[in-house]
Amino acid sequence: MNRTGPTPARETLGRMAPYTPGKPIWEVREEYGLDRIVKLASNENPLGPSPLALAAITEMLSELHRYPDHRATALAEALAERLGVAPSQLVVANGADELITLLSEAYLDPGDEIVVPSPSFSEYEFGGLLMNADVVRVPLREGFAYEITDILASVTPRTKLLYLCSPNNPTGTYLSRNHLRHLTDALPERVLVVLDAAYAHFADAEDYTDGFELLREGRNIAILQTFSKIYGLAGVRAGYCAAPEAIVRALLQVKEPFNVNALAQTAAIAALRDDDHLAASRRCNAEGRRQLREGLAALGVPTTESQANFVLAEFGDDAQDLDRALLRRGVIVRSGKGWGLPRHLRISVGTGEENAFLLRVLREEMTALGRPCSS
Ligand SMILES: Cc1ncc(COP(=O)(O)O)c(C=O)c1O
Repeated sequence: MNRTGPTPARETLGRMAPYTPGKPIWEVREEYGLDRIVKLASNENPLGPSPLALAAITEMLSELHRYPDHRATALAEALAERLGVAPSQLVVANGADELITLLSEAYLDPGDEIVVPSPSFSEYEFGGLLMNADVVRVPLREGFAYEITDILASVTPRTKLLYLCSPNNPTGTYLSRNHLRHLTDALPERVLVVLDAAYAHFADAEDYTDGFELLREGRNIAILQTFSKIYGLAGVRAGYCAAPEAIVRALLQVKEPFNVNALAQTAAIAALRDDDHLAASRRCNAEGRRQLREGLAALGVPTTESQANFVLAEFGDDAQDLDRALLRRGVIVRSGKGWGLPRHLRISVGTGEENAFLLRVLREEMTALGRPCSS
């Protein structure tokens, strides 16, 4: 045997940082021996899944020996009816994450560029690097605002994908309808605009758009959506992309045949019908977001105005100490470090009671650090 070591993985893997998820509840419970854990780290729905989704899953358990529908036909049809698009304009996937990978696989050759306003969701870069494409980051402006002239100036003849996350993770800021329209007008046709609208259901600004009006007009836009956020189904994994048919065909060419499991398809169809759960989730978030922003302001902590189900809070020099202190007390939030924002923490909106718990623990820990609270 003439072996010098294990087979080397592709070189590009050396450039890719693994995704850092929010700490799981079981890990914090074990590490700190706590009974109560409040997880406000992954922008999940604090009300849980729709009861209709739970009932639908329970009913189909005896069918689990069957492969799932490879095109998630019933889910795509239910979505098409709700969204006013054709089923042929939809691809269902194992979460929006998978769609980002599929878009990367279908559209990126080595040396192509993706444009990513930053800070934003890390998976766009992951997909780009996976395909040996180059990532062009465009810093958001003051207050993490989108500036479309900066975005347009960063487009080159090599640009293939432009990612626009609106509302944006981790800032909660958004791109207005007029700006999105302007961008799709101004960009060359070879650039595909990917609007990640994972948090669209939480947005209430009048000039917010989830992009569907532009898709219905026939524009070159791919919209990503997920069942992990407002629909409360992060654990079963389902998301979809709505796009012109040619784009859908390209994504279907690279997708695994049975990418969306049967439980996810069933749960998503039921969740889509549950208007009460959707409305309650939206209400809970609007109230909780206000509660968090006001509560943090009372502690002297500024937050960025958010259209999502989380707030980005600027704690300054104490941010990392407070992140650890909160963990020790059983409250999981997300450090801004991964986004190059070490002075910030991103806090998901919980139930009213969870938000109040976080604010109480925060006040105690800030006081323990000798940091004065405003009131
Ligand atoms: C902006 C954004 N897009 C997509 C996703 C991934 O969604 P999914 O759970 O459907 O893969 C997330 C998850 O946090 C997100 O923040």
